Parts: sequence; structure tokens; C-alpha cells
Amino acid sequence: MPPPDADAAAHGARVAEYVAQLVADRGGVLPFSEYMDAVLYAPGLGYYSAGSHKLGSGGDFTTAPEVSPLFGRCVAAQLADAGAAGGEVLEVGAGSGRLAADALIELARTGALPARYAILELSADLRARQRATLEALAPAALPCVEWLDTLPETFSGIVFANEVLDALPVERFRRTANGVEQCVVGYEPGRFASDFRPAGAELTRAVAAIEEEVGRLPDGFESEVCLRLRPWLASLADMLTGGTLLFIDYGMSRREYYSAARSTGTLRCHYRQRAHDDPFVWPGLQDITAQVDFTAVAELGTAAGLELAGYTTQAHFLIGCGLTGFMDEPLPDDRAAVLRSQQAARLTMPGEMGERFKVIAFTRGPVSALRGFAVRDLSERL
Ligand SMILES: C[S@@+](CC[C@H](N)C(=O)[O-])C[C@H]1O[C@@H](n2cnc3c(N)ncnc32)[C@H](O)[C@@H]1O
Repeated sequence: MPPPDADAAAHGARVAEYVAQLVADRGGVLPFSEYMDAVLYAPGLGYYSAGSHKLGSGGDFTTAPEVSPLFGRCVAAQLADAGAAGGEVLEVGAGSGRLAADALIELARTGALPARYAILELSADLRARQRATLEALAPAALPCVEWLDTLPETFSGIVFANEVLDALPVERFRRTANGVEQCVVGYEPGRFASDFRPAGAELTRAVAAIEEEVGRLPDGFESEVCLRLRPWLASLADMLTGGTLLFIDYGMSRREYYSAARSTGTLRCHYRQRAHDDPFVWPGLQDITAQVDFTAVAELGTAAGLELAGYTTQAHFLIGCGLTGFMDEPLPDDRAAVLRSQQAARLTMPGEMGERFKVIAFTRGPVSALRGFAVRDLSERL
């Protein structure tokens, strides 16, 4: 992997010093989720809170909106269905702002601009980048865009998030003959390292619930569970007085997640378009993510009083939202047509983003059928 430049290395050293102090303050070890939280979100220091480029070809990883405007156009069709026209949209974790820009351009083109397009973004640095993207690409839509620091008390409309669930800090665990162990992070001068300790009650209960469904995990099986998903979804559900929640992310059902094929878990780190599995390399300079257990998302959403409206692959969702029609639109030359075909393939092919990414939606109150799930609804697989 390419080494960081001097400025980035100096920033990484500050992050490491901050997290090492946290470890010391907590008596020598931090639960893995707190380590992940600190290196990603510590104000002014964490990966998402500080100034690295992160998304796009010059950054560490590429999300679907960075691949093609087709993605934002399809999402816009779903937003429009869900009542965006004159209503309210809330995007959570808007990254570079590219998805907001493409969606707003499409909503304006179809006469379905919302009265308000709110963005909840924790990172001040990304907020500035989102504003710059919107000023450059969709200036006419800017008057309806508003940035929020926290969730509003109540919201009616559509809330959506692309690749945010995978960025919620997870707990790592190991199954042993004696029970469940929790991954903790310690620090020896110069490096962080992990170890396992007996798990606390909440993690033990979460693993017991997984085993109730998938059967006893083999001794030595390591994986993750996102304990923050429950409060996070509950806060969105509490806020939603009526409308839709829509999440797009990479992941799978619980049975697939906790299968023998994934006996070392799904944690991945992204650094300059390279993926690896060491969360202790350059803390604060790389992204750390885990796949999403969509069965857990479905259970927690319904437990929070929402109705499951659909679950499908990204490919089926985009086709349901009109991708094929967008592909038929005339383009100025063959080069543009080839580029568009390549982008659509990346978004929809099974070996690319088409099947690894899933889409799940919940509704509260009367909402018209969501077109993204009309082609194929895979809810029975959850
Ligand atoms: C992997 S990026 C995805 C960005 C964008 N949605 C896209 O598809 O390109 C994750 C985004 O979620 C934001 N984020 C992470 N946790 C969040 C939370 N709890 N609330 C709001 N935003 C969050 C990050 O700051 C970042 O903008």
C-alpha cells in the first residue's frame, strides 16, 4: 500500500496519540466498537471528521453515486414516488454530496423537487464538500437544501442512507467452548493490537440470538455484530411520524452472514482504493466497515413499530426505479454510450455492486407501493 505523505502521517500520529490516551483512560483496553468509533468519528481527528479525500477515484473507496449519475437518478424516482414532490427528504450521511446533486437534478427535471432536502452529516469536512458539490452541480436546487446537526424531533417524508449502516461501529466477537469473547484493543508504544476477553451481557445476548436462528457457531468462529443498530434505527423510527425509511448497503441475511464461509467475519478497511482487513494500519487515515446483517435491520425496524416494505438487490432496485429507461436515452456519441454501459454494469452486475448491495425499506402509515421493490422482493430470504 502506498505510504501516507508527511501531512497525512502527522495527522495519523495525532489520531494514534488520541486513541492511545483513550485506551489508557479506560484502564488499558477499549471495546473494538469504541476503537472504531474513535478512529472514524473523533471530532477533528477521525477518518470521517478530518480532511482526507475519502470518496471517489482520488480517495480511498468508491460508492455507487461516485460510479454514475444513473444511481442518483434511480434513487430520485423512488424519492418522487415516496412523495418527494413538495414534501420532505432527509438524506443521512451524504458523503461527497454527489448522490444529493444527482437526485436533485433529476427531481427538478421531473418537476418533483421537495420543499426541503435535509442532510444529516456528522462530519464538518464532508458538509463543506457537499455544499461545494451542490454549488457546482445543482445550484438551482440549493435553496431547498438544509444541513442538520441532529435528527429533528419529528419528520414526515422519506429518509434514506446509502452506505451508512456499514459505517456504524461494530463489536467483534469470538465463539469459544466456554462462551462468547469480545474483541478489545490495547496499545503498546508504537502500535495497537487486539485481544479477546469474556463478553459482557449485551454482546452475549446478541450472539445467543444469532445462534438461536443459525445454530451453534463453531468454536473459534469470529465475526461482528452491530449493537448500535438498535438505538440508531429506533431514533429514526421515533422521529418518523409518517413515510418511508430506505437503506442501501452491502450485506446479506443473517444466515449468510454467520455461515461457515465467513468464519473470520466481514470487517474490511479501505485505503486509497485498496481493501484489506487490518483495522490498526494508519488509524484515522483509512475507512473501516463491516457488512450489514439485513435480518437484524428488518427485525429492529419492525420492532420499532415500522412496516417492512421490501428487501431486494441493488440491481433489482435500480431496474425497478427505471434504469432501463435511462439507458435508452440518446447520448451525443458512442464514447458516452460505452461509458454509460460500463457504469450501469458496475452498478448492476452480480460480481460488482448488483448483488452484494441490498436495499431495504420500511414505512409508517399510508405510503404508495415503492417501485424499487416491484421487480423482485426478497423479503422472504431475511
Ligand atoms: C461510506 S460514506 C457514504 C457516503 C454517501 N452516502 C455515498 O453513498 O457516497 C458514509 C457517510 O455516513 C456518514 N455517517 C456515518 N455515521 C453517521 C451517523 N451516525 N449519522 C449521520 N451520518 C453518518 C459519514 O460521515 C459519511 O458521510
